[in-house]
Amino acid sequence: MAQKILLKNINIPGINTFEVYRQHGGYAAVEKALKTMSADDVVEEVKKSGLRGRGGAGFPTGMKWSFLAKPEGVPRYLVCNADESEPGTFKDRYLMTHTPHTLIEGMIVSSFALGANTSYIYVRGEMMPQIRILEKAIAEAKNAGFLGKNILGTGYDLEIYVQPGGGAYICGEETALLESLEGKRGNPRIKPPFPAIAGLYGCPTVVNNVESIAAVSWIVVNGGDEYAKIGIGRSTGTKLISASGNINKPGVYEIELGLSVEEFIYSDEYCGGIANGKRLKAVVAGGSSVPILPANLILKLANGQPRLMSYESLAEGGFATGTMLGSGGFIVMDEDACVVRNTWNFSRFYHHESCGQCSPCREGTGWMEKVLHRIEYGHGKMSDIDLLVDVSKKIEGNTICPLGDAAAWPVASAIRHFRDEFEWHVNNPKAAMDGNYGLANY
Ligand code: NAI
Ligand code: SF4
Repeated sequence: MAQKILLKNINIPGINTFEVYRQHGGYAAVEKALKTMSADDVVEEVKKSGLRGRGGAGFPTGMKWSFLAKPEGVPRYLVCNADESEPGTFKDRYLMTHTPHTLIEGMIVSSFALGANTSYIYVRGEMMPQIRILEKAIAEAKNAGFLGKNILGTGYDLEIYVQPGGGAYICGEETALLESLEGKRGNPRIKPPFPAIAGLYGCPTVVNNVESIAAVSWIVVNGGDEYAKIGIGRSTGTKLISASGNINKPGVYEIELGLSVEEFIYSDEYCGGIANGKRLKAVVAGGSSVPILPANLILKLANGQPRLMSYESLAEGGFATGTMLGSGGFIVMDEDACVVRNTWNFSRFYHHESCGQCSPCREGTGWMEKVLHRIEYGHGKMSDIDLLVDVSKKIEGNTICPLGDAAAWPVASAIRHFRDEFEWHVNNPKAAMDGNYGLANY
């Protein structure tokens, strides 16, 4: 059985309450950090752990913390990004629902490390039950003296506020999130300056994902070196994976980074294999914003070695034959899945969610959706396939925020790996309209 950190107590009845969480060692990290460590000590442990941002970008958390500006007399903020909206990604929601104190404990320790006295959890607006759960957990922690003024008599003060999100995918982009938190329309800002220099209300701010913050408590209790022993290479620790699609056991799994993709898909401990005895066709491994890979490339590297669930191994081969771990939204497609339809569906999403600030994204996502729609519905031309590649290239790297790239990569990779399927749609318009294209057809 693989090492569990975040979900190790998930099946204990009542673990969502302060009392039971505390009985099982909860809030030990707060006691240890506030009573026996300095803020810099905590930052040092997180650096040593090698923990990387679990929202999708994989940026080293300790490094991000060490970039935080500390001008005299200016408040600093920790903002937890709980605006989880990436298609196929539901791990933060799961964690907040079942073990909310894991997040609250991590928030206290992380806020202490950053010298923040006010922190926010920005939760996707649609997640009303999770907002209520977090508010209750905060009240419980406050009643027990772990939040508010003079926590545990250490002189450290902290308030945590839960803010419902603005109902848009783009509000999960960290600078759009900060705009929204300030009460404005959630439009991404140009970076730099990064939030660590000028974030919420222009003050130094760290924005971290739910899962990253939740992992900090374990690191404080057990030490950064112990965390770094788990995982593989620069992919240290464990990762929550949201598994969905044509598998026998969809759900949220905590894996040790370095597990083989094959074991993750086929073992009973995780996805339990492809549903209904079908064949694996393709996987989108990191939420919809990463390149899709066909079965042969997701299971094996070019040298024949197994591909692993790690930042490096999933990316191996670059965009020619690799992908990204991203948010860990692992979407599995069987032989009956239609890549064209799936790509159109993703494009529809990005077009709808584009904030409209940059022309390549605002116009390009619309064009891609329109062209994919006509190919899927039997009105496509052969030249449309290269037109899609061309539009995706015009968007990539030319926008304010990563939504542009996120919209371009699924289209470009689908055509790179499944061009014959797009051509089949153009050549067989009537059959394409039936929408049942699968591996069997090609
Ligand atoms: P990014 O690579 O621009 O930044 C990563 C983090 O590092 C940010 O917090 C940024 O402020 C910080 N950073 C980078 N360079 C820095 C510097 N020089 N100084 C100070 N701080 C610095 O990526 P971003 O925009 O944060 O995330 C994009 C990823 O988010 C995508 O790859 C996608 O996988 C993921 N995503 C996840 C979603 C979810 O629901 N979990 C939704 C949408 C996207
Ligand atoms: Fe808005 Fe798209 Fe530009 Fe991001 S890339 S700022 S979502 S228009």
